[in-house]
Amino acid sequence: MSRVALVTGGSRGIGAAISIALNKAGYKVAANYAGNDEAAAKFKDETGIAVYKWSVADYEACKEGIAKVEADLGPVDVLVNNAGITRDAMFHRMTPEQWREVIDTNLTGVFNMTHNVWGGMRDRKFGRVVNISSINGQKGQAGQANYSAAKAGDLGITKALAQEGARAGITVNAICPGYIGTDMVMAVPEDVRNKIIAQIPAGRLGEPEEIARCVVFLASDDAGFITGSTISANGGQFFV
Ligand SMILES: NC(=O)c1ccc[n+]([C@@H]2O[C@H](COP(=O)([O-])OP(=O)(O)OC[C@H]3O[C@@H](n4cnc5c(N)ncnc54)[C@H](OP(=O)(O)O)[C@@H]3O)[C@@H](O)[C@H]2O)c1
Repeated sequence: MSRVALVTGGSRGIGAAISIALNKAGYKVAANYAGNDEAAAKFKDETGIAVYKWSVADYEACKEGIAKVEADLGPVDVLVNNAGITRDAMFHRMTPEQWREVIDTNLTGVFNMTHNVWGGMRDRKFGRVVNISSINGQKGQAGQANYSAAKAGDLGITKALAQEGARAGITVNAICPGYIGTDMVMAVPEDVRNKIIAQIPAGRLGEPEEIARCVVFLASDDAGFITGSTISANGGQFFV
C-alpha cells in the first residue's frame, strides 16, 4: 500500500515541486495551502493532487485539517513542513507583528503540524518528518531577524525530535535551501536578486525540483539511518 505524504505550502513554489515529486515516487499526497485558492485550484487541476486549505499557524486548524487528510487518504507517514513566509525589515524598523507572523508560520507551524502527527507515527513505529529551513537560518541575514530566528529554530526542533523519534522509527531531518527561483525570491527587487546570484558559486538560483529530490530521498526507506541531519542545497553559497 502506498504511503501518505502531507506537504504544507504544497501548492506553490518549492512545496509544489515536493508534492509532485512525492506523487511520482508513489506516495498518496495531500498539499496544504494558506489562502491562494486560485493557485491551489490550478495546481489540483494540473496534477490531480488533493489540496487542503488551513493555516499552519493555527493549532486547532492543523488538528482538524490533518484529521480530514487522514480520513481521505489514510494516516500520515511523511510530513513535509515547507510552508513559510517572509516579512523582511531591518531590525530597527521591524514591527512586533512582522516578528510574530514569521515566527507563528515558520516555526510554531512546525510544532503545530508535527505535534498532530507525532502520536500516530509513534504508534505505527514509522514516520518521516522533513523540515524546510533555509540558508538564512544557518548564517543569519540582515533584514531577516524574524526569518533567520524561525529557520534556526527549525534546525533546533529537528535535532531534538530526531532524538525523541529514533526508537519509534521516526526520522526527522532538515533541508536548508539556498536561493531558489520561486515567487518568494522573485518578489525581491531585481537589482538585489542579481547581487544575490553574484554570491552563489554555482552562478544561478536553484530549482524547486532540486529541493524536491532531497525530500524524496529523506522520505525513503533508504534514508532510515539518517536523522537529525541538515542537507544544505545552496550552490556552494555557505558551508556549515
Ligand atoms: N525560495 C527560496 O529561495 C527559499 C530559500 C530557502 C528556504 N525557503 C523556504 O522554502 C519554503 C517554501 O518557499 P517558497 O519559496 O516555495 O515559497 P512560496 O513560493 O512563497 O510558497 C509558499 C507556500 O507556503 C504556503 N503558506 C504560507 N503561509 C502558510 C500558512 N500559514 N499555512 C499554510 N501554508 C502557508 C503558501 O500558500 P498560498 O499559496 O495559499 O499562499 C504557499 O503554498 C519556505 O519555508 C521558505 O522559507 C525558500
